[in-house]
Amino acid sequence: MQTADLLVTNIGELATPRGSTALGGAALGKVERVRGAALAIVGDRLAAVGPEDEVRAAWTSAEVLDAEGALAVPGFVDAHTHPVFAGTREDEFEMRVAGKGYVEISEAGGGILSSVRGVRGASEELLLARLLDRLDRFLELGTTTVEAKTGYGLSHEDELKCLRVIAAANAAHPVELVPTFLGAHDFPLEFRENKQAYVDALLHDMLPAVAESGLAEYCDVFTESHVYDVEQSRRLMQRGRELGLGVRMHVDQLTSGGGAQLAAELGAASADHLECVSEEGIEALAEAGVIPVLCPLVPLFLRVEPEAPARRMIDAGLAPALATDYNPGSCYTQSMPEVLTWAALRYGMSAAEALTAATLNAAASLARGDRLGSLEVGKQADVALLDAPNLSFLTYEFGWNPVARVLKAGALVHERAAAPARRPASPADPSGSADAIG
Ligand code: NIG
Ligand code: FE
Repeated sequence: MQTADLLVTNIGELATPRGSTALGGAALGKVERVRGAALAIVGDRLAAVGPEDEVRAAWTSAEVLDAEGALAVPGFVDAHTHPVFAGTREDEFEMRVAGKGYVEISEAGGGILSSVRGVRGASEELLLARLLDRLDRFLELGTTTVEAKTGYGLSHEDELKCLRVIAAANAAHPVELVPTFLGAHDFPLEFRENKQAYVDALLHDMLPAVAESGLAEYCDVFTESHVYDVEQSRRLMQRGRELGLGVRMHVDQLTSGGGAQLAAELGAASADHLECVSEEGIEALAEAGVIPVLCPLVPLFLRVEPEAPARRMIDAGLAPALATDYNPGSCYTQSMPEVLTWAALRYGMSAAEALTAATLNAAASLARGDRLGSLEVGKQADVALLDAPNLSFLTYEFGWNPVARVLKAGALVHERAAAPARRPASPADPSGSADAIG
């Protein structure tokens, strides 16, 4: 008998992708499902994962967490967020609801520049306090790892300020943050008449300073007709790469402009959005093995038509990740459970495919697939325990937060304050598959 630091027992169903690399095509939906499961945790790692009787036969522990029949899945990995900001933009939301367009609002001085004013006027302390509150909410929603972009500073000083805020939050909070420098998110007001001068500042001043600081793992650019064109994006991302940064890119979000092909040419770690990607773009991404990071709530929130052709991408063998794109302008939600349902409804992804995209594939896009993204022996014990009778409920039930408990690196870091009142056990509903299985 071996001794664990913690046993998690009475798991109704455990569902997890397997492996350390992103899964595409038919493999996307191949998740392992175990009814009546348990976990043994030693330190921050999973030491045993499987049927409860087998785990209990081999492992003992003074600490036991009763999962109360929960659905256990890997903690969600949100592969694309912009969480460092001060001030919200509900006025723009109201304008869009009334019929105004995202680019129209942006060109009138709102949009990203509105958040730039907020960040420049905010102290580091205030930005950190806001970010820590947001990380609490991520955890409550089952997200244990978050890619965090800057991009609302747009000056040397303000972008580094945001990177320091991300580093401080990462050190102080259980949610793991992966920092991305997005100085090329828009052109700041003071450079609107001389955009090339800002590109030069990014190339020769900001990117080298960011790389030197060690505060970013990735660089990113908003490649889009009203912001950075393909040639500017290529130079910026090549420079970032030379300086040792990984490359993530916002491409083909509002218009189709060869962004996906550029991400493929650069062998980017991810190509994000892709609502307007062309057939050639999909083929280029598939050939280069770039991970598409899809954000199904963004077109809904922006009230625009094109939807990322996710099914076509999966059929082409691509291994998509899912993300919220959490930011105050184009998607003001932190909920991965909500993203999963919309991935099913809008993209036609099964619950199993959506789970893999929101865990292992997202972790792989952040170069963390060997440590995060699945519930397997040797992986870090990042686990979300959901009030759900089976895997299908991940996408089927929506509009509430199903997350009851969260473990990060083996520690219980979130427990829902009051479990919903439950009636005493009642007879199974003859037509209810959930009751029948559970
Ligand atoms: O991912 N596309 C560019 N950036 C964000 C929008 C940020 C904002 O509007 O503040 C996005 O949608
Ligand atoms: Fe974004």
